[in-house]
Amino acid sequence: MAKKKNSFSGSLGFVLAAAGSAVGVGNIWRFPYLCAKDGGGLFLLVYLVLVVTFGFVLLTTDVAIGRRTKENALRAFGTLHPKWKFVGYLTFLVPMLIMTYYSVIGGWITKYFFEYLTTSGRDVAEDGYFTSFITEKNAPLIFTGIFLALTIWVVYRGVEKGIEKFSCFIMPGLILLVIGIAIFSLTLSYTDADGTVRTGIQGFLVYVRPDFTGLTVKGFLEVLLDAMSQLFFSLSVSMGIMVTYGSYVKDEIDLNKATNQIEFFDTGVALLSGMMIIPAVFVFLGRDGMASGPSLTFISLPKVFQAMGGAGHIVGLAFFLMLGFAALTSCVSVMETLVANCMEVFGKTRKQMCVMVGSYSLLTAVLICLGYNVLYFELKLPNGSTGQLLDVMDYISNSFLMPIISFLTSILIGWVVGPKWIVEEVEKNGEHFSRAGMYSFLIRYIVPAVMLVLFLVSTGFINML
Ligand code: PFF
Repeated sequence: MAKKKNSFSGSLGFVLAAAGSAVGVGNIWRFPYLCAKDGGGLFLLVYLVLVVTFGFVLLTTDVAIGRRTKENALRAFGTLHPKWKFVGYLTFLVPMLIMTYYSVIGGWITKYFFEYLTTSGRDVAEDGYFTSFITEKNAPLIFTGIFLALTIWVVYRGVEKGIEKFSCFIMPGLILLVIGIAIFSLTLSYTDADGTVRTGIQGFLVYVRPDFTGLTVKGFLEVLLDAMSQLFFSLSVSMGIMVTYGSYVKDEIDLNKATNQIEFFDTGVALLSGMMIIPAVFVFLGRDGMASGPSLTFISLPKVFQAMGGAGHIVGLAFFLMLGFAALTSCVSVMETLVANCMEVFGKTRKQMCVMVGSYSLLTAVLICLGYNVLYFELKLPNGSTGQLLDVMDYISNSFLMPIISFLTSILIGWVVGPKWIVEEVEKNGEHFSRAGMYSFLIRYIVPAVMLVLFLVSTGFINML
């Protein structure tokens, strides 16, 4: 077994880097809009149950596979069992696909940050601003290029000097910003033209109170599926990333404690993001504004900042700075996974592979940007939604590949290699793995069954929804 030269200096470095990967656009943009759409507290409740069951199992599995094999996903699965090498290849495809569009979203965030930095932010709040920006030919390319250059720079500096150092600097700042804006959100209030007063506290209650009115079995399943796919994306599991980061973790580190901390960070930031966004949108745009879905961040929030008056400019700037930090540490983890795998496979240096992966990322990001103008098309996806290039990549990676990879991994660990293989790794530093029994049960029976259903539903084989 090849010994890795790269490693995180200690537990904190690993936890912050992994949390940096997990905490991203998914927490700050996707979680709140799903929550608003799926009945507030009901979604929260379902999500929290999934975090401590599925999230815990999938994250522990990925990190333990990485640390035990000391290899990247591409090779690790072959080391686990030669016949299961193909899962490694499948896993490698996910960051390859995600890389194509994540930097484009990073570019949009960079653009908004610059707008708030250099202007009053009034233009971004105008109707049609976002659409006209992403359909422009040059500007999205330039901002995506800036974001990508930053990502390549961090990855080029390496695991300890780049990723770890950068995460240790960024993550505490990010947490402070989310807490600050969340508290500010609670203090807001607004009086409508018809005299109705809406307060941040009312918005907070809308966020946390489970709404069971008119709930049907079908409706509940929809919430469950949304929460499940959010969990994958949010924790960066089943895509080789946590296997790669796990391979940089030293043997003496308490894996159980570290994975709990990563989950705590990731879920904490998601909850705080909901607390920051939902009350603010409720106060200024009412209940209807909360139903704006994916357009919440780039279309509704600038309107909220505008409605706040003077403070809105600063809050908008802080918000897009924080979102940019979160997107950057996540994008770094996607690129690091690609670079590390390629270094292992081609036996080349980090610098050479940064050039190669950087060129791939740039080229594919250009294609995704062009997907909004020159290459625009609309495709009906098997899960019923329609989308263009970015949505197609997102669909293949998140709705198609991730459930199938989780399914295959749970069969491999649960039934072929045996959960003991993971439990031994978690206990390597001498600490008792208290949830070993629950882990074994879930990975053998529950995870494969649920992943299979998730896969069949999201690919349209079961037309349940
Ligand atoms: N976990 C990140 C988020 O919540 O935004 C997203 C992500 C990062 C997805 C890295 C995939 C990935 F490879």
